[in-house]
Amino acid sequence: MPQPPLLIVVLAAGMGVRMRSRRPKVLHQLAGRSLLGHALARAQVGGASQIAVVVGPDMDAVRAEVLAHAATAEVFEQARQVGTADAVLAARPALERHRGDVLVLFADTPLIEAATIEQLTATLAQGANIAVLGFKPEDPTGYGRLLVDARGRVTAIREHKEASAAERAQPLCNAGAMAFRVPSFVDLIARIGNANAAKEYYLTDAVALASSEGLIALPVVCSPQEAMGINTREQLARAESIFQARARAKAMREGVTMIAPETVWLSYDTAFGRDVTIEPNVFFGPGVVVADGAEIGANSHIVGARIGEGARVGPFARLRPGADVGAHVHIGNFVEVKNASLEAGAKANHLAYIGDGRVGAGANIGAGAIFCNYDGFNKHFTDVGKGAFIGSNAALVAPVKIGDGAYVASGSVISRNVEPDALAIARGTQEQRPGWAAKFRALMQSRKKQP
Ligand code: UD1
Ligand code: MG
Repeated sequence: MPQPPLLIVVLAAGMGVRMRSRRPKVLHQLAGRSLLGHALARAQVGGASQIAVVVGPDMDAVRAEVLAHAATAEVFEQARQVGTADAVLAARPALERHRGDVLVLFADTPLIEAATIEQLTATLAQGANIAVLGFKPEDPTGYGRLLVDARGRVTAIREHKEASAAERAQPLCNAGAMAFRVPSFVDLIARIGNANAAKEYYLTDAVALASSEGLIALPVVCSPQEAMGINTREQLARAESIFQARARAKAMREGVTMIAPETVWLSYDTAFGRDVTIEPNVFFGPGVVVADGAEIGANSHIVGARIGEGARVGPFARLRPGADVGAHVHIGNFVEVKNASLEAGAKANHLAYIGDGRVGAGANIGAGAIFCNYDGFNKHFTDVGKGAFIGSNAALVAPVKIGDGAYVASGSVISRNVEPDALAIARGTQEQRPGWAAKFRALMQSRKKQP
């Protein structure tokens, strides 16, 4: 049976006072992406026909983040943060236009999996009017409790602050995600009042209202890890560790060897081929793709980089955005690469900076070689031809081009192009004075004051 269109409303207007941050809570990062980015990614795979995001006033950065992740989403502003029901109503124009199901997601609950969201909409398809995501947290403090009757229906959600001792003893808590297939969603939410201790409009009150009118609310239960809401930095750190554990397990299932997985930090989008080996203490920022058979040595820091088949990176390597490491390339210890490509088989084994350039196939960059890419105003390009040899401690002052197969002598400062197969030497000429050192020592010894 075809599903009706689905409007997903993502609530992101709360400032998140418990984070004690100048930054809105939903812009805090989890595995290299904002909490909001995670929620929007969920919404997109959750089969939304339209996405509405509710933000607070003066949240231009949050608006920009919405557009960066979901260009077609509509953004609405909730003038005052007086509760989640009021927040949903901020999206009223989208809600009134919409004919179909509505799913509400909280931007501070980033670990919910796509399959769980599908279960919520599937529960509507099976006849529920409301599907509520529930979970059993180890510590339920602060969460709303699902009050479930003998038939397994949710009759109300009681906020922690409002709950009696008996209600607080109910094991199922509200994760926040709720799906609705009701005669008039706007009408239902608009009838929610704020007669509670916090004087807030609780979206959760929709359940008691609807069930008192004979509508059916059913729970969908997920794991406590998935449902955890982020209200404090400690919870953010815990969510990060849950995310990391999941991401590492997935990488290993797909054929990555990790010697000490608990020390490897992945991004939401880190992509691995088969038979990649990762040594301990490696950090991956966003935008990294690693091809089959690559080896990443211990203590490497990698962001926005592509690592080719069979390449060897590290230990102690730093790959920054735009690093494109080709097949079987070797990047050794204390080598930094930024916005530069190293073509197949090139090597930079020790202590080098390769920024804004190209290193041709099979070329060798010696220890201590530097691409001098910045003149204080602009960045310039260094092009090293295939099979070239850049001696140790050479400084290549960009823009400069080293021809295929050329040699650059150690310690040279190269500021003019070098022809293919030429040798370039640009350093002081060595002078030698036979016997000088012995004479010097004797002289100094004779002059030395006796104590
Ligand atoms: C909420 C639920 C609670 C649930 C918990 C799960 C309500 C009333 N309570 O509590 O039952 O167990 O989440 O994590 O829904 N927001 C707005 N505007 C507002 C208030 C909140 O947009 O006026 C947004 C926040 O940005 C956040 C989400 O709604 O993304 C939830 O708000 P939060 O204040 O974190 O609610 P909790 O106290 O965690
Ligand atoms: Mg919360």
